[in-house]
Amino acid sequence: MLKTIVVAARDRERLAEISAVAGRYGLDMLLGRLGLAKNVGGSEPSDLPARTRQALEALGPTYVKLGQILATRQDLLPENWIEEFGRLHSDAPTLSFDQLRGDLEEALGEPVEAAFARFDTEPLAAASMAQVHRATLHDGQEVVVKIRRPGIARRMQADLRLITHLAGMVEAGSREARRFQPRALVQQLLDTVLEELDFTQEGRNADRLRADLSDNHRIVIPAIYWTFSSDTVLVMDYVEGVAPRNGEALRAAGIDPAAIADLGAELVLDMVLVNGRFHGDPHPGNLLCLPGNRLALLDLGLIGHVSGRRRQQFLTFILSLRSGDAQALADTLLIWHQGDQPSRERVVAAAEQLVARHGSGPLVLSRMVADFFPLIRKEGLILPPDLALIFKALITMDGVLGAIQPGFDLSEALQRARGRLVMHQLSAAHAPEKTVALLLELSRIADDAPRLLRAITRRLEAGENAHPMPLPDKRSEWTAYAIMMAGAMIAAAIMLH
Ligand SMILES: Nc1ncnc2c1ncn2[C@@H]1O[C@H](COP(=O)(O)OP(=O)(O)O)[C@@H](O)[C@H]1O
Ligand SMILES: [Mg+2]
Repeated sequence: MLKTIVVAARDRERLAEISAVAGRYGLDMLLGRLGLAKNVGGSEPSDLPARTRQALEALGPTYVKLGQILATRQDLLPENWIEEFGRLHSDAPTLSFDQLRGDLEEALGEPVEAAFARFDTEPLAAASMAQVHRATLHDGQEVVVKIRRPGIARRMQADLRLITHLAGMVEAGSREARRFQPRALVQQLLDTVLEELDFTQEGRNADRLRADLSDNHRIVIPAIYWTFSSDTVLVMDYVEGVAPRNGEALRAAGIDPAAIADLGAELVLDMVLVNGRFHGDPHPGNLLCLPGNRLALLDLGLIGHVSGRRRQQFLTFILSLRSGDAQALADTLLIWHQGDQPSRERVVAAAEQLVARHGSGPLVLSRMVADFFPLIRKEGLILPPDLALIFKALITMDGVLGAIQPGFDLSEALQRARGRLVMHQLSAAHAPEKTVALLLELSRIADDAPRLLRAITRRLEAGENAHPMPLPDKRSEWTAYAIMMAGAMIAAAIMLH
């Protein structure tokens, strides 16, 4: 089935397994199109996405993760594939505690009975990479102990080795598949899996995110107990709360869904647009609502990073969409696009459609994105992969908030956050270049800002040298000019706020 592939002896057995699974789900055609087997041709059977999803599940957590990464790439894959990959889940068997004890005690360096005053051998949760148990520390603190599944690191590393090898072949063997940048995709998979396999990374992510959000006393991130933690075991505060699946369950626990929705929106906007470090998968299983309308974040294995530049672009993207500026929206899309320059007119036309549909009224991200991706796919635009994770995190959170508070409108939260976001960008703008780039946001906030200024900042953003008007040519003059303009814009922003 698979072409004869030269791999190390230790990987041969797994390759045979992959081949067998692909055969079982009738994926010859898919392998052919990926350049991994003889192309059998013919039209794509309508259940190909479903069969592919089942095959990925059968192949285990590494392949499930690969599918989940692909599920965020709405710029690459058509809707039916995205929908199918959105259903991916790995059925991991619950392990008896006896199967975990050896690894756990090795990591702790002492018997479970010595480390904990009480240890619950019944698991709280069994997930693909870990099993979670409750325990009590000797000082009475209730904790959870997240234990990595024995042998999983070795298996996933072997999978990654093979997938990397296959990606190289796909890249070489199929023009169609090259559009998917398979090697870049696999790099993302490698980064994600290696980070998630090392539980000290998750612990550090928790500490960092807690520090980022320390001003907001309604956000809870469980404390990590480092003396008991290692790359295979993570011990943290047990959090008692209600998962935000629907409003009734929250109300029954004395929690106000509207307050949680506002808090969640504020949180996700702060993480993505202010701090540049965000929870990559804020689904209801990774969130808990607590009395006092507080919100806890769990499962910090996957953290997304947004550079300052990207934060600015993203803010520009949302603000230009909401202020109806299709030109500015198109500019951002063109900056993001990875590949040959497409026709600007067509991108502007696509941006205009988007503005017409989502420029006003409630902002439902999932609906906006459902329109957005087919449009940009049609124009052949390919987005940088880090954006996919940002969109995914925002959509996931938006979906959660809409489920607990029907009719929840993110645009209101955005409106409330707007002044804060821009002010933050300003206070972070120590370097003159940043001040200049900031003008872009400011010019959008003050709706009556001169169009010319917008054009200049737009070009600066795009890194173009050609200026639409004579500009100060000395760097020092530029800085003075920029600061002066920024001052004027801030004044306008404050007045409008
Ligand atoms: N600190 C905690 N307090 C209470 N429950 C927790 C805590 N950490 C994890 N859990 C429970 O265990 C489940 C799995 O843990 P999680 O960290 O999400 O693992 P995974 O990365 O495998 O999804 C969570 O969905 C939650 O129900
Ligand atoms: Mg989880």
